[in-house]
Amino acid sequence: MARTLTQRLAAVLFTLGLMVWAAPSAAADADIPAAELDPYFKGGREGHAYTLAMLELGMRTGAATSAVLRSDPARAKVALKSLREQMNKVGAMVPSWKPWFRTGVIDEMDAAVASKADLAARKKLVGKLEGSCTGCHAKFMFQVQARYRWGSFADAVVSTGSGNLTFHQVMLDLATDLGAVRSDVEAGQLKDATSAYTRLMERFGMMEQLCANCHDQPRQYFIDSGVKARLFKIGGLLRRGDTAVASYTPLFNDVNEMSCLPCHQVHMPAAFAQRNALESKK
Ligand code: HEC
Ligand code: HEC
Ligand code: HEC
Repeated sequence: MARTLTQRLAAVLFTLGLMVWAAPSAAADADIPAAELDPYFKGGREGHAYTLAMLELGMRTGAATSAVLRSDPARAKVALKSLREQMNKVGAMVPSWKPWFRTGVIDEMDAAVASKADLAARKKLVGKLEGSCTGCHAKFMFQVQARYRWGSFADAVVSTGSGNLTFHQVMLDLATDLGAVRSDVEAGQLKDATSAYTRLMERFGMMEQLCANCHDQPRQYFIDSGVKARLFKIGGLLRRGDTAVASYTPLFNDVNEMSCLPCHQVHMPAAFAQRNALESKK
């Protein structure tokens, strides 16, 4: 008895150990078959072969499922045939993902329409088909978008007199300078605070240039006039020699809440997915 318990405990510990040890590769399970996908994502951010094939799959799915639900045998037959063709085509593009594109459910839909199965039964089949799409999308779609459709955060650089600054470095500097301005004001060192502020504004301007790396049109948020007004106010306080941190605090908070934090919520998932993909290649 004691022995089995010990054995079980050992087994549990062993399993836990494996789980901890296996954690990184569990994340890697959602890795995408990049070598197979790469050839379909050449060129710009739009109009990729795989994306277009998916959009077509979406259209044909819509056509087929609505014909099946309406129980229109003639249209359903044509639509299901054309859906099957597209599914086979998309499935063949990325061999590792072929098992996701099972056409069995299309056969079932064909049979259901032919045998005039009731609406509930047809709805169930439609749900099954749609579920197969969602399953893969939930697992892989974001990684594909982050890799191929976002533009590269690693390649986004600004050239300065003293060489290139990476996006990442611009970010680190922004955070450093914000912190420096506050602590210099706290210490009553307004001269240091002013030079930290000058670099902060310089970096903020560089960050603005980096948006154009990915956005063709100017964006409304995160670097808008509201944020800039806060930054200019900080400059005004420094010029007037205000040494009360409390005058600055709401302005620092606003900059964080209007610019840094929300922009991070939008862009960091993609940026860090790209970073992790690069790290796992090393
Ligand atoms: C374009 C929107 C955007 C804005 C605006 C923005 N950031 Fe970032 N920031 C990012 C992205 C994307 C990353 C992750 C990629 C990287 O670090 O290369 C990042 C990373 C960072 C990092 C590094 C985090 C880490 O864990 O290494 C810091 C620090 C940072 N930002 C500070 C700031 C501060 C401070 C502000 C506001 C003054 C700011 N950022 C404004 C997009 C933005
Ligand atoms: C094995 C994985 C996989 C399966 C299964 C799959 N897709 Fe996709 N689908 C993707 C990926 C990856 C993308 C993202 C492509 C991109 O952004 O370029 C995508 C994108 C799409 C898009 C474009 C979405 C958008 O707005 O960005 C549509 C529409 C679509 N799929 C429809 C379908 C339908 C309908 C099915 C089921 C019949 C299906 N997909 C099954 C992987 C899959
Ligand atoms: C490496 C590429 C990249 C960089 C650099 C980048 N963005 Fe984005 N950003 C995107 C993508 C991709 C999206 C989502 C799709 C879209 O809106 O185009 C997005 C979405 C957004 C959105 C939300 C949706 C919208 O389009 O309004 C805003 C706002 C935005 N970015 C602002 C900025 C600002 C401001 C900067 C510079 C400070 C910036 N971005 C830098 C790639 C980037």
